Amino acid sequence: KFKGIIFDLDGVITDTAEYHYIAWKHLAKKLDIEIDREFNETLKGISRSESLEKILINGDKEKKYTEKEKEELADSKNDYYLTLLEKLTPNDVMENIVETLKYLKENNIKVALASASKNAPLILDKLELRDYFEVIVDPSSVKQGKPAPDIFLEGARLIGLNPNDCIGVEDSEAGVIAINDSNMLSIGIGSEENLNHADVVIPSTKILKGTIENLM
Ligand code: BG6
Ligand code: MG
Repeated sequence: KFKGIIFDLDGVITDTAEYHYIAWKHLAKKLDIEIDREFNETLKGISRSESLEKILINGDKEKKYTEKEKEELADSKNDYYLTLLEKLTPNDVMENIVETLKYLKENNIKVALASASKNAPLILDKLELRDYFEVIVDPSSVKQGKPAPDIFLEGARLIGLNPNDCIGVEDSEAGVIAINDSNMLSIGIGSEENLNHADVVIPSTKILKGTIENLM
């Protein structure tokens, strides 16, 4: 029934969502800002610069940062994040993801990546998964980030499919909204509580292949 699958990366293909959290927490601490996991849910799927803005709102309201200072803060978060990525290997691919990608390949279902991360190509290379993806959408090529549907729509366009013929897979609330607004079927990976907008919610990737097979 479906002809294409468009995946998010961080928190879906590998647990880099956790690394983003660790890196933001590290930066926030230096700025005397406290962030917790609940707040972190609102950062998932959101670009680096927008995430920083959200974090700064939690800090000293009097403190104003120049654009240059904000750029430096975002760079320093990314530098720390990159040190965490150094230890990433194919062993860090989430459970059942390789089986899912193999199944999709065998069934000629097109696969694209729609991640807000500028580090996505590097991460797919480190995980040795690059060849499974026909397309990696460049997040800077789309007007609006998640929760706008732009990046999913661009993914569908680049693999030559109608959005209604595609499934989107996400771990973030912003991402699920983006999938829904692009008229794809949404699979949310995580808790029902955070992802209640998704058409289908599964607690982890462990049952992703079976879930997709059942939808076909
Ligand atoms: C998204 C993550 O995939 O990418 C966000 O969910 C992250 O947490 C965003 O901020 C941007 O990533 P990067 O690697 O370009 O800083
Ligand atoms: Mg994600």
